[in-house]
Amino acid sequence: MSANDKSDPSAGPPSFEQAKTKREKARAAGLDPSYWYAVELDHAIKKGSVQRVTFWGTHVALYRDERGVLRAVEDRCAHRHVPLSIGVVQGERIVCQYHGWEYDKDGKLAGIPHDLFGMQMPKCKLRTYPVKVRYGLVWIFFGDAERAEQVPMPYIPDLEGPEKWACVPVAFTVNAHHSMIIDNVSDFTHEYLHRKFRPFKDAKLTKLESTDDAVYVSYDTKVGTGGVTAHFIDRAAADTDHMDLAYQYPYQWSNTGNHIKHWLFVLPIDRTTTRTFYLFHFKSFKVPGLPLRFPRQLMEPIIRTANRTHVQPLLVEDKIACEAEQEGWERHWSEPSAEVNPAVHAFQALTIKKWEQHLAREAAQRSLNPRKRELDQEPPAAE
Ligand code: FES
Ligand SMILES: [Fe+2]
Repeated sequence: MSANDKSDPSAGPPSFEQAKTKREKARAAGLDPSYWYAVELDHAIKKGSVQRVTFWGTHVALYRDERGVLRAVEDRCAHRHVPLSIGVVQGERIVCQYHGWEYDKDGKLAGIPHDLFGMQMPKCKLRTYPVKVRYGLVWIFFGDAERAEQVPMPYIPDLEGPEKWACVPVAFTVNAHHSMIIDNVSDFTHEYLHRKFRPFKDAKLTKLESTDDAVYVSYDTKVGTGGVTAHFIDRAAADTDHMDLAYQYPYQWSNTGNHIKHWLFVLPIDRTTTRTFYLFHFKSFKVPGLPLRFPRQLMEPIIRTANRTHVQPLLVEDKIACEAEQEGWERHWSEPSAEVNPAVHAFQALTIKKWEQHLAREAAQRSLNPRKRELDQEPPAAE
C-alpha cells in the first residue's frame, strides 16, 4: 500500500514523487539548497560553543571557534558517526565527544588522542559549509560550496549604512511545513485570526504577478490599526492603507508605505518543522499623542519591547494556526479542500516549480557523475 493510498486512513500525506494535486506537491516539496539560508541568530552562538542546525534533514554542526569565527561541518564524526554537535570546540577545531577525534577548520581529521595500534591515522575529510553573518543572522549555503560565492545573499538596503532602519530579529520554530508559513504570511484573508491585534483589516487583493523567481502581491488594507503599537505608527509619513508583499523565492517580504517592512527567512528543517527568522524594520516611530518622532537611538529599545508585547504574541497566533493546519493536513490531506486566494495558488506553484527544477538538476548531476556521487555517500575509509 503506498503512502498516499487514500483508502488507508493511517497512511500519511504523499511524498513529492507520489503527490498528485498542487496542494499535495506544495506540502511535500523541499526548498532548493542552492540559496543562502538563515540558520540562527548571530548572538545565540557563543565563542567556543557548538550546536546542530538542520536543513531538510541534513544535520550540520555549527560552531564558533575560540577566535570567534563561525564554522559549519557535517554533523558526523568519521569514526562512528557520533554527531559532532555534542562535541567540544578547541581552538579552531571541533573534537568528537566520544573518542576525541579532532577535525580542523576544513573538516580534515587532524588528531586522534588514543593508541592507533600501529596503524596510520586514517585520511578523513568531512564536508564543510560556507557560513556568513548578515543582519544579525548566521547564514549557511547548503548547496554545492563552489557555487556559494556566485549566489547573492539577501540584500536589504534599508538595513545598510549609517541611516539604516531599526530592526531586532525575531526567531521561532514552527511545527509545520514551510509552505504553510509562506502561505500564511502572504495571504491576508486571515484577519479573523488576528482580531485582537488587528495588524491588517479589510484586505483586498489589487495585484498578483508571477515571474520565474517571485510572486508579487499588493493588497489595499488598513495596516496596524489595533493594539498599543498603532499609536507609534508614523501615519503622517507612511501610506498605511496599502501593502506590497512578495514571495521572492525562497524568501518573503512586505512593504507598507516605504516605512514599515519585513523580511521572513525560513529554514526548512524537515517535512513538519520550520525555523522562521523575521526582520521587521521601521523607518521612524512617532511619539504617541504628539507631532514628534522618537530619536533613532531609542527605536531598537522600543522594538525590543514591542517584539515582546506585540510582535511575538501576534506571530504566536500564526504559529498556532500553522501548526493546527499541519495537524489537519496530516489527518485529512486526502479530503477535498478549497483555496480561494489566487495568491496562495501562485506561491504554491512557485514552491513546486523550484523544487522540481532542483530535483531535475540533481538528477542530471547524478547521471553525469555517478561515481563521484557514490564516493560522496560512502563513509570515509577509516577502518
Ligand atoms: S565516534 Fe567520534 S571519536 Fe569515536
Ligand atoms: Fe498572520
